[in-house]
Formats: sequence, C-alpha cells, structure tokens
Amino acid sequence: MITLRLSASNNDDLARAASLLRAGALVAIPTETVYGLAANAFDAAAVAGIFAAKGRPQDNPLIAHVPDAEQARPLVKSWPAAAQRLAAAFWPGPLTIILQRAESIPAIVSAGLGTLAIRVPAHPAAQAVLRAAGVPLAAPSANRSGSPSPTLARHALADLDGKIAAVLDGGPCAVGVESTVLDLTGEAPVLLRPGGVPVERLEAALGQSVALSPAVAHAPAAETPAPSPGMKYRHYAPLAQLTLVRGSLQAFLELAAHEHPGGLLVFDGDAIPGSWPVLRYGDNPEQQARQLFTKLREIDERGWETALVRCPPKEGLGLAVYNRLLRAANFREV
Ligand code: TXA
Ligand code: MG
Repeated sequence: MITLRLSASNNDDLARAASLLRAGALVAIPTETVYGLAANAFDAAAVAGIFAAKGRPQDNPLIAHVPDAEQARPLVKSWPAAAQRLAAAFWPGPLTIILQRAESIPAIVSAGLGTLAIRVPAHPAAQAVLRAAGVPLAAPSANRSGSPSPTLARHALADLDGKIAAVLDGGPCAVGVESTVLDLTGEAPVLLRPGGVPVERLEAALGQSVALSPAVAHAPAAETPAPSPGMKYRHYAPLAQLTLVRGSLQAFLELAAHEHPGGLLVFDGDAIPGSWPVLRYGDNPEQQARQLFTKLREIDERGWETALVRCPPKEGLGLAVYNRLLRAANFREV
C-alpha cells in the first residue's frame, strides 16, 4: 500500500484524513503528546488493522479519542464525579481516564477488557479530524510496538510507511510524552502511566491523593497481572542498550570512563569532555519530555551500541520522562 502524505495545514487534507478514517482506513494523526495511529473505534475490522500494522500484542488495549467530554459519556457505563472534575480541569489535554466500557464500543478496542480508556486530545488537527470523522477514534502511539513513540510525522513514517493509508503531518508534538493514564474504575483513582499531566496536578484537582501503580517506577514482577497491560512490555526502546545513571555529573563521567559506552545522553548544561559522542535532551522536564523520543531514535541513527543516560528528576512531568527512560533502558538503572 502507498502511504499518503497529508498536511494538517491543508483543509482538503484534513477532510481526506477524516473520510479515510470513516471508511475504515488507518491514518497516523498528530496529537499534542505523540502521533497516534487512528481507526474508527466503532469498526472492529479497522481496529484489528491497528494491532496488525503495529505488531501490537493482542492483549494491550487502545485509547478511544473523542472531541469533547460530552462525546465520551455514551462510550462508558457510568460517569463518576471524579471523571467530571478531571474532564473539566484537563480536557482537551494529555489525560486518559479509564471507566467501564459501554456495549457500543467493540471489545477489541480494549483488548477484551470490560473497561475503556478515553481521551480528548488538544491538538487542533486531532480536534478537526475527530469532528469531521464524526466517530470516536481508537489510537495507540503510531510506532511499531516496542519502539520509541513518534513525535514527528517522519517517525511514524519510518515505522509504518506502506502499512497504513496516510500520515497527517502536524509538525512536532508540543508535549512529547504520552498522556497520563488514570484508572477510575476502583474505589480510589490509580495512576497507571505518568504522562503529560503531572500526578500532583491530578491530586490538586481531585482533592485526594492518587496511588501509583507499582508498574510506574519498577520492573513488573512476572507473577502479578499487569493493571495496565502496556506497562509489561519492553517499550520505547532503541536498539542500543541504555543505562540510566542517577547522581552527580562527576559520578556519571567516572562511570563513563570505566564502561566506555558508545555515547552519552545528557542535560543541556552538562560540561562533557570533548572526546565523548554526546546527545543532549534539555535542561528542564518540559524540554526533556519534548525531545526524549527524538533523541532515543537518534541514538540508533548514530549507531551507538550502548549509551549512558543522565537520570531526570522524578517530580512533575519528570516522572513521565523517567518512566519512559526506565523502560527504554530495560530497567537498567545504577
Ligand atoms: O498520549 C497518548 O496517550 C497517545 C496519543 C496517541 O493519544 N496514545 C498512546 O496510546 O500512548 P498507547 O496505546 O501507546 O498507550 C495506551 C496505554 C497502554 O499502556 C495501555 O495498556 C493502556 O494505556 N490502556 C489502554 N486501555 C486500558 C484499559 N482499559 N485498562 C488499562 N490500561 C489501558
Ligand atoms: Mg504506545
């Protein structure tokens, strides 16, 4: 199949993307977090195509995207007060909530689970396509399963060219890490994946503390069933073997001198001796989130076989960056 290149700044292309989606085709679309691989969520065959194109495990559920909270409600069995509060505070935006799935949404969207993840994306092109398509869109990140998520149209093409109908280019993603995933189906809210909305802000909006799923900052134990199936897979990983290094720059450089990695992924302000191959990913969590996935892809483009990575702080948006790096490093942290 020839994958069409469409531009989000062209109205005909936006309409084209929407009509392809309505007709059951797969289209990669920009969101404020990462590019998503979208399909009509009411069309089980189209949704099955997402799993095939990405090579995604069949037990890993997808997020349903809608243009506003009003259109989220018919997709779920109940709409608790917490959902209302969070929707008012953070939608449109990088928050996904999990509720009980209504019968109108085919089971394949949530990989057979009785629950459904829902998000209202803020990117104007995502909004335009959702409104023109007139159906909810199931959309995981538009990467091959296991690879770093795409924050540029060319990343989505690198992984999916020839396998999907079109890519809608909306430029670089403003947030750069995926949405925060919050499970609202239990007694108390549980954070399944840190993301674009920091957990501290969720707690402030809810007036209640949010428990972190153990999967957020630890390797999954083989015995326990994963609360968020996506968290159990090797993820966001370049081919290179990464090691995440906590502590001072001096300790980092001493480790580098000892281990001879292929390169270093460091902060902008780090003074690194000239002999090291270096990539930099920003100085604050917002910059680091925006640049992280591009830099992980660049590590492979440069052919590094191993890399040491400076560990970000774990507060605010930093927790999402840390969570992705930990998986990219296959939980190798020193
Ligand atoms: O920012 C984002 O969330 C992007 C954009 C495209 O919206 N999408 C995204 O989708 O990151 P994906 O499929 O790459 O990640 C969705 C995560 C996975 O870890 C999945 O296991 C979890 O959400 N998830 C989805 N539905 C779930 C459910 N019903 N119960 C538990 N976890 C769920
Ligand atoms: Mg993903």
